[in-house]
Amino acid sequence: MRLDKYICQNTNLTRSLAKKAISSGQISVNLECIKNTAFKVKRSDQVFYFGEQISTLGHRYLMLNKPLGYICSTQDEVHPSVLNLIDVDKRDRLHIVGRLDVDTTGLVLITDDGQWSHRITSPKKNCQKSYQVDLAENISADIIELFKKGLLLKNELKPTLPAQLVLQSKQKALLSIQEGRYHQVKRMFAAVGNHVEALHRVSIGSITLDVQLGDGEWRYLTEDEITSMN
Ligand code: URA
Repeated sequence: MRLDKYICQNTNLTRSLAKKAISSGQISVNLECIKNTAFKVKRSDQVFYFGEQISTLGHRYLMLNKPLGYICSTQDEVHPSVLNLIDVDKRDRLHIVGRLDVDTTGLVLITDDGQWSHRITSPKKNCQKSYQVDLAENISADIIELFKKGLLLKNELKPTLPAQLVLQSKQKALLSIQEGRYHQVKRMFAAVGNHVEALHRVSIGSITLDVQLGDGEWRYLTEDEITSMN
C-alpha cells in the first residue's frame, strides 16, 4: 500500500496532511526516514510518526514454529499458550488457526482475521495439512491404500477422508490429511496398530513452515501466503 494511504488509514490525518507529514520528514519506515509519498509499505514494515509506531487497523497474519510443551488455546493451568511466544502489540486480538496437541510441533498459523481462519478450518474447505510422522513400529506398505480409501477411527461412525501417505523410511512418513478430527493422525496410526512417537506439521494448504524459523520463532506471512488461502 502507498505510504500516504497507509498513514491516512491508520491515523487521524487526512490524505493531504499525511502527504505533508511524509514530505517534511516526520515519517520513518523501519529505521529510515521516507519522504516519498508513493513509497510502498509492506505488511511487515513498521511505520513511525514523530518516532511513535503507527499501529495498523488491518489484519495480521503470522506463522509460528510451535515447540513441544505449548498449547494452542489461550487457557491451561499447566502449559503455556503459543501466544506467549508472540511479542506484538494487542496480542489479545490474535487467535490460533486450528490446534496442535501439546506434544506436536511445527506450523501454526495465527491471525486476527476470523474470515480467513474460517476458510482454513471449515470442514467444507477440505484444506490439506501435512505432517512428518515418526512411528514406534515399522510401517507396512499396505497402510498407504487403507489411508487412501479412508478408515474408521475408534468410536466413530464415518470413515476418514482419503489421506496420502508417503513412506520415507521404515518408521518415518509424510501424511497429508484434509480433515482436523480430534488427535486424527495419532488415531489413524493407532487404528492400524502403530503408535506416533513424534508429530511435526509442515504445511497447511500451500503455506509451508519456513525452515529458517527455529523452535518457538515466528514471522509475518507474505502477501502470497495470505492470498493463497482466499
Ligand atoms: N493429529 C494429531 O493426532 N495431533 C495433532 O496435533 C495434529 C493432528
